[in-house]
Amino acid sequence: MTLIEDTKSGKYDKPDFSRHANQAATAPAFFSVWDMHAYYGESYIVQGVSFNVHEGEILALLGRNGAGKTSTLRAIARLDDPHLTHGEIWLDHQPLHTMKSYEASSNGIQLVPEDRRIIPGLTVEENIELAQIAPPIGWSLSRIYELFPRLGERRKQEGVTLSGGEQQMLAVARALARNIKVLLLDEPYEGLAPVIVDEIEKTLNIIKEQGITTVIVEQNAIRALMLADRAVILDTGTVVFDGTAQDVLDNEELRAEYLAI
Ligand SMILES: Nc1ncnc2c1ncn2[C@@H]1O[C@H](COP(=O)(O)OP(=O)(O)OP(=O)(O)O)[C@@H](O)[C@H]1O
Ligand SMILES: [Mg+2]
Repeated sequence: MTLIEDTKSGKYDKPDFSRHANQAATAPAFFSVWDMHAYYGESYIVQGVSFNVHEGEILALLGRNGAGKTSTLRAIARLDDPHLTHGEIWLDHQPLHTMKSYEASSNGIQLVPEDRRIIPGLTVEENIELAQIAPPIGWSLSRIYELFPRLGERRKQEGVTLSGGEQQMLAVARALARNIKVLLLDEPYEGLAPVIVDEIEKTLNIIKEQGITTVIVEQNAIRALMLADRAVILDTGTVVFDGTAQDVLDNEELRAEYLAI
């Protein structure tokens, strides 16, 4: 188990990005968040968050209500709120912290927000095509329908008329349709029956097999931990645990303290 003290003691050496990107031996982690601080107006919410994610890994970002999980994802995706005031975010040698959200998205960060944001009045297919309106484009429609046959069957149906599980699939499909390196999922299982969660979990594993890196935020921490390779736990906007998902599953005390499970 690795507590925050390790972060402070320099477990995460700040990557030296002055080096050229092709010097693989000294390159930073594939996806790296370093000492990120962010505010909603005067409210100081993300209070120095750091973690690394390896390519193709699934990271569960956990913590109680209000711990700062959504805010952390939004700051990484470079949305305006919360406003990033300090820190670095590197994805595949690109400095996301210098970018606007549309640039971060072009560089491979795709956030699927909790409310899924399916666009009313558009069919399933139009929702996906809208994500491909500007390059760089990610997965093709046929590749997406291969992963989500149900979306293929319903391609002409209005997106908002899909079931909750199907809408979640459509939201993920839209993220895959863009340049995708890291998928950020905020509460993807929310409101879904366990059998539908099983189905989404299966597709997340297939997405992982295809080399995509995923950060999943979930209230259903056990399900997220069963899926994930590693876990980071937040409490009041700081990292209190960084280790393997199995460590968290095995540590009742830790779960009781920070996850109330
Ligand atoms: N737009 C906002 N303006 C001001 N404060 C906000 C805003 N959004 C969230 N907060 C505050 O930031 C803190 C972290 O919220 P956040 O939504 O990131 O937590 P969370 O871990 O995602 O919680 P939950 O599990 O409930 O989704 C909370 O105290 C919340 O009240
Ligand atoms: Mg949240």
